[in-house]
Amino acid sequence: MLVKYNDIFDMKTANIKNILSEGVVHSKVSLKGWVKSFRSNRFIALNDGSTLSNLQCVIDFEATDEALIKKISVGAAIAVEGTLEESQGKGQAIEIQVSSIEILGESDPETYPIQPKKHSLEFLREKAHLRVRTNTFSAIMRVRAALSFAVHQYFTQNGFVNVHTPIITGSDAEGAGEMFRVTTLDGKNPPLNEDGSINYKEDFFGKETNLTVSGQLEAETFAMALGKVYTFGPTFRAENSNTSRHLAEFWMIEPEMAFFDLNDNMDLAEDFIKSVISYVLENCKEDLAFLDQRFNDEEKQKPQAQRSEMTLLEKLKFVTENNFKRVSYTEAIDILRNSKPNKKKKFDYIIEEWGADLQSEHERYLVEKHFNCPVILYDYPANIKAFYMRMNEDGKTVRAMDILFPGIGEIVGGSQREERLEVLQERIKALDIDEKELWWYIDLRRYGSAVHSGFGLGFERLVQFATGMGNIRDVIPFPRTPQNAEF
Ligand code: 4AD
Ligand code: MG
Repeated sequence: MLVKYNDIFDMKTANIKNILSEGVVHSKVSLKGWVKSFRSNRFIALNDGSTLSNLQCVIDFEATDEALIKKISVGAAIAVEGTLEESQGKGQAIEIQVSSIEILGESDPETYPIQPKKHSLEFLREKAHLRVRTNTFSAIMRVRAALSFAVHQYFTQNGFVNVHTPIITGSDAEGAGEMFRVTTLDGKNPPLNEDGSINYKEDFFGKETNLTVSGQLEAETFAMALGKVYTFGPTFRAENSNTSRHLAEFWMIEPEMAFFDLNDNMDLAEDFIKSVISYVLENCKEDLAFLDQRFNDEEKQKPQAQRSEMTLLEKLKFVTENNFKRVSYTEAIDILRNSKPNKKKKFDYIIEEWGADLQSEHERYLVEKHFNCPVILYDYPANIKAFYMRMNEDGKTVRAMDILFPGIGEIVGGSQREERLEVLQERIKALDIDEKELWWYIDLRRYGSAVHSGFGLGFERLVQFATGMGNIRDVIPFPRTPQNAEF
């Protein structure tokens, strides 16, 4: 347990979460927060962010200055002092009988956008600096923080070392070329080589650099010394995908383990996901109950056939209580080829031959229609996967695994890594990757190489699953997507 270094928290005002759980009737309290609603010139619903619930503050109408009452409006920051009493009204057990109130910051009721009513998610995305003041977003962001804590706790308790891998890099780990360039060169007048191309030797780092798409390659170097490591940081992809599951800036959790093969890797990924979901089920009960209600209300708006069969809480429990289904790519292709939507040409991409890349429609069919549970697909064709994945004996497939989740699609992508020097060099050559850029990565196969594996879990997709939110833009504080980097 961490202990407080001094009594800084005791010196400050109490918070609503503590008062609601352990407040003693007739005791004196002082609180600061924001007005969520104000009724009958008497009842303030106060929220301080510590919990979803508001605390009702009852002001003595006669004893309070009228000019002051006029300044109490939704969104205002206030400080109150008073005594905790059993509530006379419905909806709350205790309330504060206010003895003094101070307006810390007024809020203009004419223009304040977050009124106590239902706003659309689209509207709130445009007010992302204020949307965290709503119940929905404060609940999501507390669950997000709890998940982040659970991630660090899980790995720390299981002997992993946290590594901070670089954000600026010269290599394209995924080989997909979807990178944001980092440069200090003058865009209008860059230094040129004789052939007219840009001379990056004159750039800040003396070479071409980008924002990282993954910390994996650097994490591998640490795994080959520290055994079990993980990195959890921002990653960037300049994919022009305007979907409900893609961000240009997202957070990825990437464990990397020496001496783990693909099966160990799948076991770890499954255990890890179950563990962090259990953590929020246990520790975010109030926020999840609210999000469950919200999810169920949203589902009711949908046509019967598209509705989720489970509530949000049921979905989360289902994941923690059931084994993920493990299926090879080859088996999956057989299932898809013989599926109704494939035969009736309902898929946008018809599956004809082994080797086809799976689209999200196929992943969703497998997870939501065929297996009806999380699925781990493994042993993919080499030519639809990255260069670093370990080649199987068949020479066609690699030891890759993707975890697919209902409503989300791919949540994890990982693999056993190619540990054999010659095989890795051949792959790099075949894919026309510049070996010089990867000299340090290849070196790992020269000095004490060993079987090793890892995976990447998209943190926002996990938060989407845990909160039941349909759009990834609503589970990150300030989403970055094509044509949008406001805030
Ligand atoms: O499958 P990906 O591309 O795998 C890697 O980057 C590996 N280097 C990971 C590893 O083995 N260490 O990405 C991993 C996960 C995906 O499964 C998905 O959950 C998430 O990252 N992801 C995205 N999330 C939001 N927006 C995007 N544009 C994403 N791209 C990938
Ligand atoms: Mg992937």
